[in-house]
Amino acid sequence: MVIFVEDNKLISPELEDIEEERLERSLRPKTLDEYIGQDKVKENMKVYIEAAKKRGEPLDHVLLYGPPGLGKTTLSNIISNEMNSNIKITSGPAIEKPGDLAALLTNLNEFDVLFIDEIHRLNKSVEEILYPALEDYTLDIIIGKGPSARSIRLDLPKFTLIGATTRVGSLTTPLRDRFGIVERLDLYKPDDLKTIVKRSSRILEIDIDDEAAMEIARRSRGTPRIANRILKRVRDYAAVLGDGNINLKLAKIALNKLEIDELGLDEIDRKMLETIILKYSGGPVGVETLAATIGEEVETIEDVYEPYLMQIGFLSRTPRGRIALEPAYKHIGIEFSK
Ligand SMILES: Nc1ncnc2c1ncn2[C@@H]1O[C@H](COP(=O)(O)OP(=O)(O)OP(=O)(O)O)[C@@H](O)[C@H]1O
Ligand SMILES: [Mg+2]
Repeated sequence: MVIFVEDNKLISPELEDIEEERLERSLRPKTLDEYIGQDKVKENMKVYIEAAKKRGEPLDHVLLYGPPGLGKTTLSNIISNEMNSNIKITSGPAIEKPGDLAALLTNLNEFDVLFIDEIHRLNKSVEEILYPALEDYTLDIIIGKGPSARSIRLDLPKFTLIGATTRVGSLTTPLRDRFGIVERLDLYKPDDLKTIVKRSSRILEIDIDDEAAMEIARRSRGTPRIANRILKRVRDYAAVLGDGNINLKLAKIALNKLEIDELGLDEIDRKMLETIILKYSGGPVGVETLAATIGEEVETIEDVYEPYLMQIGFLSRTPRGRIALEPAYKHIGIEFSK
């Protein structure tokens, strides 16, 4: 997904740079037991993995979906790890031609995991190669051109595809139907995020109080990537303003300086809500109109901002457009009227 977020780095659940990528890798849990929260998904995956191992078969194809930064890539690596398989990692936009995918598939070994990130961005001609590969581990390729062209069928090793996407609605039905396991990752509860903050602190050797960890958790919009990022920034403030230890007071000062409010909302969230309330009398207003008014991409609004605003009961998506709900009025200090 292409989302540009230069001036909004803390809130954006997108990965920013190589430095952050390195940090993420060091913080990534390696086993299901280390993976915090998402209990339902974890329990399901445990059963499927056990069963596949008992049968001596590869795991069914898995589709993971949910907002960015919730741990889809992490979980995919864990699944392959728990299956004792090798994982090959690619992404929808990286596979340009059917031949690229054919090359990937024929290079797999029995029981390998092929991870395709942003799988909703596969192009149609590539996707069609995938159907028989997923269904009966075969690959149809065409040899030659014109009237003498003929199609031959190759057998592929038994593999597992794990697809990840932030927009499950953009997947075609035939592709979606070929996944035996479909799991949605939800925004994390503050308690789980607190555990993640504590775990990351331990790994990064950061001294942090329980209360401070909870404060960061509450303001991280249910997203581990954001929690880890805020933790790092707060550590910088603690080093400069204090003695390096993070307590509640310091965490609050840092978070306020970072302009993340009590609920984790930033400038763009507030602008969105104010626009709906003041310019469109609370809504409904179509997402395209809203995007144009505040100068953001529709995709950014839908994938990054709305999931959290809906979760905390500030916003509702209706067929006629977006509506600001009563708690949103209160939060930004505008009187609610029906
Ligand atoms: N359940 C979890 N427990 C502990 N840490 C987690 C968990 N989920 C995610 N993280 C941390 O959050 C960071 C982001 O996770 P990850 O890269 O897997 O997200 P993602 O869903 O693939 O995001 P994107 O959609 O942007 O690709 C990782 O560094 C990881 O350490
Ligand atoms: Mg990812």
